[in-house]
Amino acid sequence: MSNKAKFSSKLGLVAATVGSAVGLGNIWRFPAEVQSNGGAAFLLVYILCVLVLGIPLMLAEFSLGRGTQADAVGAFKVLSPKSKWWLTGALGVLASYMILSFYTVVAGWTLDYLWQSITGDLYASSNGSGGATSAMNLYFHHKMEQYVCTTWPPLINTFIIIGICIAVLMAGVQKGIERMSTWLMPLLFVILVVFCCEALSFDKAGEGLSYFFTPDFSKITPSVIVNALGQAFFSLSLGMGCLITYGSYFPRSTKLMKTAVTVSMLDMLVAVMMGVIIFPAVFSFGLSDAELRGTTLVFVTLPEVFSMMPATGLWSVLFFTLLLVAALTSAISIGEVSIAFVQDRFGKSRRMATLIVTLPLFALSTLCSLSFGVLSDFKIAGLTIFNLLDTVTSNYMLPTGALLICIFTGWFAPKGFFRKELTPSLGRDRRIYWAVEFIVRWIAPVLILIVLLSSII
Ligand code: TRP
Repeated sequence: MSNKAKFSSKLGLVAATVGSAVGLGNIWRFPAEVQSNGGAAFLLVYILCVLVLGIPLMLAEFSLGRGTQADAVGAFKVLSPKSKWWLTGALGVLASYMILSFYTVVAGWTLDYLWQSITGDLYASSNGSGGATSAMNLYFHHKMEQYVCTTWPPLINTFIIIGICIAVLMAGVQKGIERMSTWLMPLLFVILVVFCCEALSFDKAGEGLSYFFTPDFSKITPSVIVNALGQAFFSLSLGMGCLITYGSYFPRSTKLMKTAVTVSMLDMLVAVMMGVIIFPAVFSFGLSDAELRGTTLVFVTLPEVFSMMPATGLWSVLFFTLLLVAALTSAISIGEVSIAFVQDRFGKSRRMATLIVTLPLFALSTLCSLSFGVLSDFKIAGLTIFNLLDTVTSNYMLPTGALLICIFTGWFAPKGFFRKELTPSLGRDRRIYWAVEFIVRWIAPVLILIVLLSSII
């Protein structure tokens, strides 16, 4: 079967999986979540979520993939042929498709902002605002609003992103995904380190860091826990079979525990580094809380910060390169879920599968992109198409997927399956296995269920 493709080296395997995990979720969403959930207290809960729930769930996904050598739907069919559990995989394929249609749009904006940073257009008339923070903020706000609301430029950039994804995905697991990640991930870390060093030299770096690292325990509320869990799962690429699919490309010799710990730590490191960059900047440049919300952080606040720094263009180019790298490797992993599914289930060639998956994407992404412009009045349940897809996938589909994956692995997979997949990487230490199994069977399902119910009510 063509899905027998494997990552060729340990480095490539880790780079590809970290590439999937590190994305817009770390760089754009994480600092905004920290800010709106009480600072360091959120960071603490988030770290606990990654360590206690994220790693075991990641192990469950890796095991399902590696143990069955199949795609997100196939894994369930192999382990439980007569049941309806494959629907969990189908939910994942659907979610991956929906996420991809808005993820590529944001990646498209990033491409445009990178291009505008290179040409200098992004900052061309910002000086006219006289350097006052509020005026500058208005300038970049206006610029972004104008940009996303037009029809063609965002659309063309989204199409270029889809084009790049098609090229990489068609090239296959080793020559496309693995090779791309092995080159780009080190670049991403180098850029992050450079930014951290710069941010630490800002005037009020100390204040920013103490906001980010000194927890106020009274700020830990149920909603902070719900948000931290959602952020942890999204950031680790959990809940829709993405890591089942990647797991199926792991050779038998891969130590799952070591891989899961490495990937989670690196993913968390990137998120923490982003905090170390953003908060010193926010405090030093006197920006307000409101400027950290959602989309505006990356496309408004940071350009504002860059415009106040010497070598504006250089920082801007570096940052949008970073964001583009992160977004591309994640988008590719999201697309791979559907491609592996089409390739495996319908016996298509990789080229064919890529086309079948990506061509309708042009239409869906167009709808998402236009939902900021001509389609902005078209709303379902009060949300634009873009926001609807974002909310439905992150708040409902991913947690549901994660819940089902835990229950299946913990209770319904053939007896001893999970243990067999984990054993080589745990050596003789049974206690870790018991802990992981206990979490996957009991703790994770209960917590995820609470989160799901609380977001429904
Ligand atoms: N983890 C990526 C990010 O932080 C996004 C992502 C990639 C994802 N694959 C996924 C999210 C699978 C959920 C499920 O941006």
